[in-house]
This record gives sequence, C-alpha cells and structure tokens, in this order.
Amino acid sequence: MNRSDAAGVTTFSEVVGSSHVVVCCGSGGVGKTTMAAVIALRAAAEGRRTVVVTIDPARRLADALGLAELTNEPAPISGPWDEPGHGGEMSAMMLDTKATFDGLVQRYAADSEQAERILANTFYENISGALSGTQEYMASEKLYELAVEGDYDLVVVDTPPTRNALDFIDAPQRLAHFLDHRLYKVFMAPTRGFVKAVNVAAQALTRSIAKVVGAEVIGDAIAFFGAFEGMESGFQERASHVHQLLRRSDTAFVLVASPKSDTVAEADYFATELAGHGIGVRALVVNRMQPAFAATDGTVAGGAAAIRARAASLEGTALADHYTALADARQLAEGEEGHLSGLAEKVAPAPVVRVPVQAVEVTDLEHLDALGEIMFGDAGN
Ligand SMILES: Nc1ncnc2c1ncn2[C@@H]1O[C@H](COP(=O)(O)OP(=O)(O)OP(=O)(O)O)[C@@H](O)[C@H]1O
Ligand SMILES: [Mg+2]
Repeated sequence: MNRSDAAGVTTFSEVVGSSHVVVCCGSGGVGKTTMAAVIALRAAAEGRRTVVVTIDPARRLADALGLAELTNEPAPISGPWDEPGHGGEMSAMMLDTKATFDGLVQRYAADSEQAERILANTFYENISGALSGTQEYMASEKLYELAVEGDYDLVVVDTPPTRNALDFIDAPQRLAHFLDHRLYKVFMAPTRGFVKAVNVAAQALTRSIAKVVGAEVIGDAIAFFGAFEGMESGFQERASHVHQLLRRSDTAFVLVASPKSDTVAEADYFATELAGHGIGVRALVVNRMQPAFAATDGTVAGGAAAIRARAASLEGTALADHYTALADARQLAEGEEGHLSGLAEKVAPAPVVRVPVQAVEVTDLEHLDALGEIMFGDAGN
C-alpha cells in the first residue's frame, strides 16, 4: 500500500531518497522521534551519510541510539554501514537547547567579550532554555547547521511536540522579531540617542514593569538587550536562511499522525498551516494503525460486514468466535481508514505510509529496522 501503482505518484522511499533534509512533524506523542530514527537508520543502511537530531527521546530509544548522555554534537552509531566499502554512515544526537543557543550567541557576537556578557546574563540564562519557542528555534538552528555546514547526505530532524506547525517553522523569525521589538527599542533608546521624551517614557515604563517583576529582572533584561546590540542583523539573516532551507525542494516535511479522529484533525490543521506558509506535506505517516489481519489463505477476505455475516452463518460452530473477533478488528481498521481518507486526499499526491501498532514499545535498533521495512515498502504491505 505504500507503493502506488499510479504513474507520477512518488513512494515514501523516493521522497526520502531524493531529500537532503527530512523534518518529522506532527502533534504530541504520535511517533515523531521514533519515525525520525527509523528513517535515518534506513537511509544509512542504504549507503547515505546520515544524521538524526532527536528531541527528548524516550530513555530506552536514546540508549539504543547510543545517546546515553546529552550531547549536542552528533555521535556515530555502529551498524552494517561500518562494513568496508558500504558508504553509509549514521550519527545521532539529542538536541541540547541551551548549548545550541550559546553557540548561536558566540557565532553572532562581535567579539568574545560580547558573547561572554550575554552568556553570563541572568535574563539570558532564564530565557535561553525556557522562552516559548526556543526549543523549536534551536531545533531548526541545529538543522541548518548540520544541513549547510555538515557533510551529510541526509539530515533527519525530529520536532518538539506542539499542536501548531508554526511553532517550528516560524521560531527563527520570532526571535529575530523579539530582538527587533518596539519595547526593546524603547529600552535601548538611551544608548541609541533617541529624543529625550522617549527616554523619559522608557524610564517610566521600566519603573512600572520593575514594580511587577522586580527591578533586578528588569536590570538583567536591559543588560541582556544591551548585550545583543548589533547582533539583530545576524539573527535576522540566519532566520531568513533557515526560512529558505525549510522551503527547498529537497527538504521534505513528513507529517506523522495516528488514525484516531482527534489526532487526524490535528494533523489536518498542521497540513493547513504548513501549506499557508508555502510548505507542502511530502509524506504522511500514519502510526499505530490497527492491524487489519489480512487473510493469506482467502478464507477471511472482505470487509467487517462480510466477515460478521460469515460468523453468523457459523453460529454454534467452533469457528464462529474467531470470525467475530476478526470482524471486530477489521471494523476498527475500516473506521481508521474512514478517519484518514480526508487527510490522505488533502496531502495527495504525498504517499501515505501505514505503520501498524506494535505489541511493544519500539526501542531497539532491530525493531526500528523492522518498522523501516514496513515503511519503505519491502515488508510486502
Ligand atoms: N507503531 C508503534 N507501536 C507501538 N508503540 C509505538 C509505535 N510508534 C511509537 N511507539 C511508542 O510510542 C511512544 C511515543 O513515540 P515517540 O516518542 O516517537 O512520539 P513523539 O511524537 O516523538 O512524542 P513527543 O511528541 O512526546 O515527542 C514511544 O514509547 C514509542 O516507542
Ligand atoms: Mg518526540
């Protein structure tokens, strides 16, 4: 089903194979981190130099990927790609938001003295890890760094859980705007030589804000903005490069969803938002699908209704209960297909990849590899 017979429709394998960047997005808990790992492992096995950036992976998945400690740089994972002449390569990292932000500050500071002033600022320490959107911003920042400056054929990036796709795609611009904010300009008025009236107004404003949040916080904030003096353009420029990278034709957004009606609705919203920002969904991965228990011997062909009729006709025999159980399972699967059909049409011609719910958590490399076989179409589904 992952392969399409229709001419001109690409397969999931082709989408990943023709991409330099794959972004796994979708709402909370749908399987973004798992899918990012599966896609990266698969690409490495196929001979590509691959890196995956994960965000808060489940402990056991992190262990399987060799990420026992938080590292903000990719660490190599061994696998079949280590064979001589294979050509593939696999690295993984767990995003460290603060370390990435620090790196960005160091990059755009005019000198090490300015960088140190920012890094030591209490206000910066508080916002660099906690400001809403910082994690999204740093994920896209890391993506940019690896995609543009790294030597990889494929960069797979996981995204933080959110209901709003814009949190990720707009994050760089938001920080740039933050630094360019009117309030910031007002604060900076004294050093920028604005007219005295603005200065007086700024001081009055500062005093009233200080009453609420405390003079110390305001002092730190002013020092923080002051420390960023001259760096706005660097951030703006970087934001616009990230903006372009996310819209390149070899950057593929893979939307991960589950077949439950509420998460399908969330995925639908994601697709709308992405489209509104000039980004198409290049593949839809529907994770945790109810298995349809398809027949291999022809005895249980047909939909839930047909199987239920068969159960009724066998009432009183040893097989009736089995047919009823199968009819129930297939009815669930049909219900899920029903939830999905609108979304699948909306993202068409993007391929739709169906991943069945697994009996256990997906946390070891072997299991990830097995999911890869399903998703990339060689498990015969
Ligand atoms: N097909 C599946 N069958 C069974 N369990 C799965 C499947 N896919 C993922 N899981 C499990 O579901 C949990 C959530 O998956 P994952 O962490 O990949 O989701 P996520 O979208 O990254 O979540 P978050 O939004 O919190 O980051 C994990 O424990 C994972 O092992
Ligand atoms: Mg995750």
